[in-house]
Amino acid sequence: MPTMNITVINGPNLQLLGLREPTIYGSTTLEEIQKHLQDVADSLNVNISFFQSNHEGEIVDKIGSCLSDGTNGIVINPAAYTHTSIAIHDALKAVLLPAVEVHISNISSRESFRNLSMTAPACLGIIAGLGVDGYEWALRAIVKHLKQNRK
Ligand code: DQA
Repeated sequence: MPTMNITVINGPNLQLLGLREPTIYGSTTLEEIQKHLQDVADSLNVNISFFQSNHEGEIVDKIGSCLSDGTNGIVINPAAYTHTSIAIHDALKAVLLPAVEVHISNISSRESFRNLSMTAPACLGIIAGLGVDGYEWALRAIVKHLKQNRK
């Protein structure tokens, strides 16, 4: 069976997980999340790679490069760009790759400016409010989706 490649993209300020507003985002670091996702990916027998940037254009570039780097599916937490970025929405639409959007916090129950996701309509689905475990659920969901839709 051909290998499946998943790219995990994290947006601005998520490099500060562990330190950043722990009552909202918890105490787990991005490195720990990525290590856990690597273990889950190994157990599912899929390849996984990680990217984090604080810059919208770099995230757009990364999504664009997924077209030619063998990526089959995307897990993305666009962080604050969730609520503002038509460019990330358009990039996800452009590459036509399935993506699952993750939020550690429940963006529907926080400040009103977080209630709208500009990027979610370009995704297969969204997981929010389940803490950092949401990354694992998103990875499992995208792998299941890809396996079910494999030709
Ligand atoms: C977040 C929610 C966003 O509103 C916020 O700007 C973030 C993190 C989350 O994972 O809960 O940076 O995406």
